[in-house]
Amino acid sequence: MKNRDTQATWRYHDGTKHSYWSIRSDPHFLDWANRPLPFKIYPTIEPLPFPRDVPQTGVAALSAIAQPLLPWSGEVAPDLQDLARILYFSAGITKQRKDPGGEIYFRAAACTGALYEIELYVVTGDLKGLDAGVYHFNPAEVSLRLLRKGDFRGNLARATALRPTVARAPATIICTGTYWRNAWKYQARTYRHFGWDHGTLLANMLAISAASGLPSEIVLGFVDVEVNNVLDLDTRREVAWCLVPIGRTSEHLSPAPREAAALGLETIALSKREVEYPAMLEMHDASSLDSEQEVAQWCGKQPVSASHTTASEAVWLQPLPKEEEPTDTIEEVIQRRGSSRKFDPTKSITLAELSTILDSATRGTPADFLEPFGIQLNDLYLIVHAVQGLRPGAYFFRRQQNALELLKEGEFRAEAYHLGLEQQLPADACVDVFFLADLNRILERCGNRGYRAVQLEAGVIGGKIYLAAYAQRLGATGLTFFDDDVIHFFSPHAKDKSAIFLLAIGKPMKKSREAF
Ligand SMILES: Cc1cc2nc3c(=O)[nH]c(=O)nc-3n(C[C@H](O)[C@H](O)[C@H](O)COP(=O)(O)O)c2cc1C
Repeated sequence: MKNRDTQATWRYHDGTKHSYWSIRSDPHFLDWANRPLPFKIYPTIEPLPFPRDVPQTGVAALSAIAQPLLPWSGEVAPDLQDLARILYFSAGITKQRKDPGGEIYFRAAACTGALYEIELYVVTGDLKGLDAGVYHFNPAEVSLRLLRKGDFRGNLARATALRPTVARAPATIICTGTYWRNAWKYQARTYRHFGWDHGTLLANMLAISAASGLPSEIVLGFVDVEVNNVLDLDTRREVAWCLVPIGRTSEHLSPAPREAAALGLETIALSKREVEYPAMLEMHDASSLDSEQEVAQWCGKQPVSASHTTASEAVWLQPLPKEEEPTDTIEEVIQRRGSSRKFDPTKSITLAELSTILDSATRGTPADFLEPFGIQLNDLYLIVHAVQGLRPGAYFFRRQQNALELLKEGEFRAEAYHLGLEQQLPADACVDVFFLADLNRILERCGNRGYRAVQLEAGVIGGKIYLAAYAQRLGATGLTFFDDDVIHFFSPHAKDKSAIFLLAIGKPMKKSREAF
């Protein structure tokens, strides 16, 4: 089974690390004349517009983020308005701005380079207002396009080895990654970005589904070829990454799988020419699951328990009491979210604000690779610059105890500037949150697909941090980093771990949005 040959992951991971020298010796430049289209367009299919006046959930953002686990019992099906809300607040256009390279359509969730390489599809049975079919979501028009008529949910049930949440879902969203749309800028590192950018989008999707009273979860275990065939993807360009079943039917049997013949549908070319990065195709192939039997076993259910040294000094988190939490709804917060472009280095945040962010972002994510509910693949390490009630320094977040362990005290703004790819944002932030993971343990448990899982989980937690920060009217931004230097900075505690993700939180200097 190629998923178990985990050298493939190490080849990809080590081969796509950023270092001081790799950045300086990279001859890559942005070819603006060949910039990819930000949307997948099927020109020969008529759009089915979504209703415009979709009711808001009224659920406070912090509650929506922290409570994504609804019971999978009884019958609860999304209607067309629910689907419109979920898709729009996951991937819809929330703002637009002119840029020297052209118009930029900013979306509901943060995305590396504002390149938006994640596409969403819906596979449904008959719903109120929507006939059974396979649909593509177009964020530019907030519409669906019917790719296949009829009920194909049985194909997803079979592809997931009859995972009950998928087998009994009235509708399942499939998220895919389009290599070139992101690789135009980031080259082979895009496969990591697939995980991050899926993750931020999924943080929104889980929160808005929960706020809509619809259970949902992330499913990474599926036979790749089967799901890609349902969407008729050209897999050298675009691949399915995860499924998100929405709601639950009372049907006891999922519909029988159907023949998914090639569709040969025309789509508009993204660019005049595309560059293929073999390292990503190899990583994807090595982390693909080929049979239902493999799907049933790909990820053991034991918690990944890491052994940590005892706390030298720990500060307990002190989240805001419920009655003092901001009440802005999840829709309001998603609508106003945007990555901070400049932080004010003279400002600080409170320990209560930081605690509320960490607490609500790490309560657990419903996902097949995070069972039993509550386990986490990524460990959070912090560089604290300006948090009232915390001494500046490097910390480890002891999630089980909800405490921050001081690893080393000191002013580390210069180090943060360097670790965050020599950008000012991590130096001026109030706190930088680094995501590190013990890749060896994860790969041992889940094979190469564990690499998809760990990147995606980081993106989900990062996406929740964005929302929890903006709910409290703070700023945040995802960042990229020098891999090995991050590990070196947090060692010896972080010895043998790998750097996965970075996010900075602070007080924004002024409101403006631009693509990094
Ligand atoms: C994983 C991740 C990494 C990012 N890395 C950087 C970065 O290194 N520098 C930067 O200025 N912005 C970075 N961003 C912010 C993106 O540029 C931003 O999300 C994108 O332009 C969309 O804008 P918005 O977040 O305001 O909607 C990152 C975002 C994500 C999600």
